[in-house]
Amino acid sequence: DDDVFPVEKHAEAGVHGENVTTLSERMPWYAGPTLIQLLETAQLDSARIRGLPLRFPVQWINRPSADFRGLAGTLAAGTVRAGDRVRVMPSGLTSTVTRIVTRSGDLEAASAPASVTLLLADDIDVARGEVVCAEDAPAEAASQFQATVVWMDTQPLLRGRSYLLRIGSTVATATVMPIRHRIDIHTLTPVAAERLELNEIGEVELELDRVIAFDPYVANRETGGFILIDRVTNLTAGAGMLHFALRRSDNLRWQDLEVDKAARRRLNGHGSAVVWLTGLSGAGKSTIANLLEKRLYARGVRTYLLDGDNVRHGLNKDLGFTAQDRVENIRRVAEVARLMVDAGVVVIAALISPFRAERRMARELFAGGEFIEVFVDIPLQLAEQRDPKGLYAKARRGELKNFTGIDSAYEAPEHPELTLDTSRVAAAAAADQLVQHLLQMGVIARQ
Ligand code: ADX
Repeated sequence: DDDVFPVEKHAEAGVHGENVTTLSERMPWYAGPTLIQLLETAQLDSARIRGLPLRFPVQWINRPSADFRGLAGTLAAGTVRAGDRVRVMPSGLTSTVTRIVTRSGDLEAASAPASVTLLLADDIDVARGEVVCAEDAPAEAASQFQATVVWMDTQPLLRGRSYLLRIGSTVATATVMPIRHRIDIHTLTPVAAERLELNEIGEVELELDRVIAFDPYVANRETGGFILIDRVTNLTAGAGMLHFALRRSDNLRWQDLEVDKAARRRLNGHGSAVVWLTGLSGAGKSTIANLLEKRLYARGVRTYLLDGDNVRHGLNKDLGFTAQDRVENIRRVAEVARLMVDAGVVVIAALISPFRAERRMARELFAGGEFIEVFVDIPLQLAEQRDPKGLYAKARRGELKNFTGIDSAYEAPEHPELTLDTSRVAAAAAADQLVQHLLQMGVIARQ
């Protein structure tokens, strides 16, 4: 019979409006009430909601004068009484309710779904979107969830895309990461999915841009149910239920965690320090520095080499070799090295750095043990004999002014952490010695 609505096509009933106000003749197999009858007789679940722990999402802060600050909103669950201890989530701050204010005067108690303004005994930080809870039965706080989503947009829900999530009076940005599966509505079994199309239902993981207060949907529909809003069209694109928080990264603790030098060192798996090589031009600083960096790199240590000749091509290209320019050269390199040590890197600085005062200044920028002064020692005659760049010869001819060891002083270190005599020790052996020193100091670890 064409007039009888086939069971498998009953989804179309929504379009035609079967059984809404009168019983449909096209669905003779259905003997229950109409939709309107059902709604008229439905009991609100108010007794149950009142019996739940207090949940009061703050809609706005009412501050008409300096001595009055009220938290305005609608009770989502439970009962609040003057004198109750409360905990605001997700901040976790606690206080006592002093007054329950309404237009028709103060109340001793109010239950969901009443709209009231709460006054607290303490001037604690409370923001719109936070939830005032029973102190001993607060909502949970998290930023990653497993949730069920019913998709209602013609544009599919995509893994990795972000939407606005509204829950109570809170709005956060939610990114879908990942879609666990889609529910096949014919067989009710999970199916792998990268997207949810219109009217599809799926289990997803949501990652919010911040921590929010929530309850699992089974415990509280008000504080566990949400809608997803398309950020471009501003239309509701989906609705869903939060099941539980994912604690892969414990977000509450993450907020307290400082990303500091110690944290970066932990991440790197080694300490950080500066190996400061000082000595005459031609002593072998750059050669040793390069070998040391290769050895550290091979051990998985993060390094950076600050070599005088190189730094003078960029950061310090405005500086020459007068005493004051060398002072500034050392100061800048020392400050850069300090930032890098703070970043958790093992810095190798290779500069003549001829003056004691500036080497001390550099040392004072660092914590104890972080500044390792290494005197790359070579007799002047030998450096001049080697003269790899021909600069000593130039200086002797008077073509190069202020050359260290010729017409500009080199002040040898008095208490270096290490002295490498490069007239006797080969560069490779010198680099090995530095690795040993870093191991002894605990900057790097034995493999
Ligand atoms: S520092 O004295 O300011 O520490 P730095 O190590 O940066 O010197 O630069 C030294 C390098 O600059 C030398 O290796 C050499 O190649 C070059 N140089 C050019 N002029 C001079 C000079 N007058 N004295 C020393 N080095 C010079």
